[in-house]
Amino acid sequence: MKKIIIAFVVTLTLPVFAQQKKSVPTEKQKMNTFISNLMSKMTVDEKIGQLNLVTGGEATTGAAVSTGVETKIAKGNVGGIFSLTTPQKIRKAQEIAMRSRLKIPLIFGQDVIHGYKTTFPIPLALAASWDMSLIEKTARIAATEATADGLNWTFSPMVDLARDPRWGRVAEGSGEDPFLGSAIAKAMVKGYQGNDLKAINTMMSCVKHLALYGAAEAGRDYNTTDMSFDRMYNEYLPPYKAAIDAGAGSVMVSFNDINGVPATANKWLLTDLLRKEWGFKGFVTADYTGVSELVAHGLGDLKTVSGLALKAGTDMDMVSEGYLTTLKQSLKEGKVTIAQINTACRLILEAKYKLGLFDDPFKYCSEDRATKEILTPENLKFARETATKTFVLLKNEKQTLPLQRKGTIALIGPLANTASNMPGTWSVNADMSKVPTLLQGLTEVAGDKVKIVHALGSNLIADANQQIWGTAHGRDIPRDNRPESEIIAEAVKVAENSDVVVAALGEASEMSGESSSRTDIGIPDTQKKLLAALLQTGKPVVLVLFAGRPMTLTWEQANVPAILNVWFGGVEAAKAIGDVLFGDVNPSGKITMTFPQNVGQIPLYYAHKMTGRPLGDRPWYSRFWSNYLDVTNDPLYPFGYGLSYTTFSYGNVKISNNTLKPGQQITVTTTVTNSGAHAGEEVVQLYIRDLVGSSTRPVKELKGFQKISLKPGETKTVTFAITEEMLRFYNSQLKFVSEAGDFKAFVGTNSRDVKEVDFKLVK
Ligand code: BGC
Repeated sequence: MKKIIIAFVVTLTLPVFAQQKKSVPTEKQKMNTFISNLMSKMTVDEKIGQLNLVTGGEATTGAAVSTGVETKIAKGNVGGIFSLTTPQKIRKAQEIAMRSRLKIPLIFGQDVIHGYKTTFPIPLALAASWDMSLIEKTARIAATEATADGLNWTFSPMVDLARDPRWGRVAEGSGEDPFLGSAIAKAMVKGYQGNDLKAINTMMSCVKHLALYGAAEAGRDYNTTDMSFDRMYNEYLPPYKAAIDAGAGSVMVSFNDINGVPATANKWLLTDLLRKEWGFKGFVTADYTGVSELVAHGLGDLKTVSGLALKAGTDMDMVSEGYLTTLKQSLKEGKVTIAQINTACRLILEAKYKLGLFDDPFKYCSEDRATKEILTPENLKFARETATKTFVLLKNEKQTLPLQRKGTIALIGPLANTASNMPGTWSVNADMSKVPTLLQGLTEVAGDKVKIVHALGSNLIADANQQIWGTAHGRDIPRDNRPESEIIAEAVKVAENSDVVVAALGEASEMSGESSSRTDIGIPDTQKKLLAALLQTGKPVVLVLFAGRPMTLTWEQANVPAILNVWFGGVEAAKAIGDVLFGDVNPSGKITMTFPQNVGQIPLYYAHKMTGRPLGDRPWYSRFWSNYLDVTNDPLYPFGYGLSYTTFSYGNVKISNNTLKPGQQITVTTTVTNSGAHAGEEVVQLYIRDLVGSSTRPVKELKGFQKISLKPGETKTVTFAITEEMLRFYNSQLKFVSEAGDFKAFVGTNSRDVKEVDFKLVK
C-alpha cells in the first residue's frame, strides 16, 4: 500500500518539478545576469578601473611601484592588488573598495609559488619527486595557508618548458619535458583551486607565462624567442594547455615576443590560440609592467601599446597603468571599442564572482584562520617529508652515503650556516627566523653520538659584487674578507680532524630565479678550490649541492665520491637533508632537466630530433657526423636520472601484442627488483619513439611513469598501457594525428638506460 502511494505522488509531482527545473537559471546564467546588471551601472572609468592591477605598495620584480593606491581604490580605479598580505591589511583595502560607488570587491593576488609560509622545495625540485599527488598536496596546503592570510589568487603554476639551464627561471618550472610538465601543471591547478573555487580555502590559479618564456634566447632573462610551430605545438605549448584544461581561472602573459609580436600584444596567441582554439574562459593578465614594456619593444607610445594589448586579449594591466591612463582617450579616438573594454571587464568580474567575492568580500579575512592554519606542525612535517623526496643522489661511490651516526663530521662551505638561503627563490612569505640552517638541522638530526664541526671554507663567489647580486632579497651568506688561501686552510684543518666532510656548496638561492641568468653554470671557482683542497685531505667528501638549475659538474663527478643535489628545499630543508644524509630516508628524486657536460652543449635535452647525420654508435669524434670536436654529445646526467642507496635491476620488457589498432590498447611490462640492502623508491619511465613519420620526430618521448617502492629483495611488475591517442602529435598542418607505422617503446630507470620493444600502429 505504502509503495503505491509513493508512486502516485511521484507521478503527480514530476511534471511540476520538470517545469520548475526549466525556469531555474544555471549558475552561469545567474553569473551573467548579475554581471550584466552590474556593468549596466558602470561608467567607462569604472570599467577601465577593473582592468588595473596594482602592487600593495612595494616594487617586487621591477622598477615600477604603484602609487596613491588607496585613493585609486576609493575611486573605483583598481581591480586587484598583489603582494599585500594578512587579513588585517586586506580587510582594510577591501573596506575602501566597499566604500567606492559600486562596491566592487578587489581580487588579491601573490606569487605563491612553492608553498606559502610553509615553503616547499622550489618547483624544479618538486618536479624531481615525480609524485603528482605530493605536488598537488603542496599546492593544496599553499592555498589553505594563503587564503587564511587574505589572498585568493596565485600567480602559479609557472609551466614554461625550459631547456636552457643558463636561464635562472628554470628553478620555477618543471624542467624540459612536455608530458611531465603537463601532468604537474594539472596537479598544481587542482591543488590550488580544489573542486570549489568558492570555498574559503581554495584560490584562483594563474598559469604563466603564456607563452614560450622558457625559450629566451641564450638563456638571458626577458630575451626574445623564436620558434617553429612544430616545436611550439608539440613541446612548449602542452603544459599551458594542460593547466587550462584543468580549469585554471586565469593566465599571465609572458614578456617575450613570439613570431615578432610581444606576447602581451599578440592577438594570435591570446585570442586565436587561447580563446578560440583552446576555449579558455577565464581572464588574462599582463606580467609586471608587460604593457608599458611594449614601448621598449618598439610598438609605439603608451597609449598605442595599451590599445594593442587590450585588443590582442590582455584583460588586466599589471602595474603599468597604461590602461588606466590611456584607454578612455583611445576609446574617444576610436582606437579601441567599448565592446573590447566590456569583454575584459566582464572576464575580471566573472573571476570575482566565481570566487564568491560578491557574496562576501571579506571571506578570506579571518584572523582566526590566519593564526590556526598557517605553519601548522602537520604542514611543517609534510614540508620536511616532501623535501626528502626531491633530493637527487647524483653519485655515491663506495657507499659513502648514508653517513653513520658516529664520529666527527666537518660541515664546510658558504651555504652551511645560512637560514635565508634554504627556502629558495620566490619564498617571499617564509619567516627566515624560523628556518634552520644546515648546521642547525644536521646537528638536530644527527643526535648525540655525532660531533659536527663547521668552517666557512670559502666565500660564495670571489667577486664581492657578484656575491651581492647573487644574494638579493635579503639572503644572508656570511662573507670573509681574509685572503682565499687563509679561509681554505682553516677549513682544511677542521676537515683533517674529522671522519667525514660534508661540503655545502653550489649556488645561493638568488643565483637562480627571475633575473638570475648565468653563462657559467658551474660551482663558483672559489668554492671549487675549497672542494679540491678538502678532497686532498683524503677524507671521504660528500658534496651537498645547492642548485636552482642543472649545473655543470664534470670535474665534481670525476673527483668527489658522493654528490647529493638538494636544490632549495623549503623551510624544512635543513632537517630533510639530515634525514637523507643519515639514511633515515632513501633518496628517490630524478632530474627533470638534463645536466650538460659543459655550457657549450646547451640546449641539450633527451627528446631531440635525429638529424640526417646522427652520430649514433659511431666513435667520437667522427668527421661529417653530428658531433663536437671537443666534447661528446652525451649529457653528464640524463633526464630522469637519479640514484638510490639501494640498487634496482630491471627485467626484460615484454609487450602484449606487437600490433596496436586505434580503439585498442597494448601493454608493456617489466619487473623491477630491489637488489640492494635498503628499502627504496624507483621511478619507472616509459618512452616511445615514432620511427617513421610525415615530420621529424624526437628520438624518445616520455609517455608514462610510475613511482614504486620496494623492500630489499622485493620484485614488482610494472605495466604501462599504450593507446593510439598516446602516439598523436601535431603534424606540419598542425593537425593532431597519429600515423600508422613502426614504433619503439622503451622502459627504464632514466631516459638513457632503457630496454626496448618494437610495435606497429595499424590503421
Ligand atoms: C614575474 C612574474 C610574477 C610577477 C609578479 C614578474 O616579474 O615575471 O612571474 O608573477 O612579476 O610578481
